[in-house]
Amino acid sequence: MKPVKQEIMVTINGELNRFLIRTNTFLLDLLRDELGLTGAKRGCNKGECGSCTVLLDGRPVRSCLFPAVMADGRQVVTIEGLEGPGGKLHPLQEAFIQQGAIQCGFCTPGMILTAKGLLDENPNPAEEEIRRAISGNICRCTGYVKIIDAIRTVARKKRGVIK
Ligand code: FES
Ligand code: FES
Repeated sequence: MKPVKQEIMVTINGELNRFLIRTNTFLLDLLRDELGLTGAKRGCNKGECGSCTVLLDGRPVRSCLFPAVMADGRQVVTIEGLEGPGGKLHPLQEAFIQQGAIQCGFCTPGMILTAKGLLDENPNPAEEEIRRAISGNICRCTGYVKIIDAIRTVARKKRGVIK
């Protein structure tokens, strides 16, 4: 039996998009193949590595396993849509660069979006909470210490503890 098609409307990085998609399409396929938003990485494609993480209504989801039809009427943010004040890099992107939390960079978009989801919900996370939040985002390179430092730095700046 042929997969059924369905029309969906999804706001992606602030722009409303209309798609006619097969109902078995995953959100990652829509982002990468239809829109060329390749910042969402295809790592394991099984929901295990977190490299495909995007924000759906502000919450991190693994787009490789998320049915695109379930994004109908909702807001998706990918790393391409993340920006800081005045169109500059987002503070998380800056902190990751400054603190050396990026090596090969493959995990970085998913890691940063997971961190954004956490900080939007909890501006003062304990180290343990950061570790738990990023536990589904695998990084082969950094050993996580600099990633956690970068996230803590942004949290402190957000709260005005440091400039
Ligand atoms: S590519 Fe989605 S979790 Fe690995
Ligand atoms: S920087 Fe290489 S996987 Fe994280």
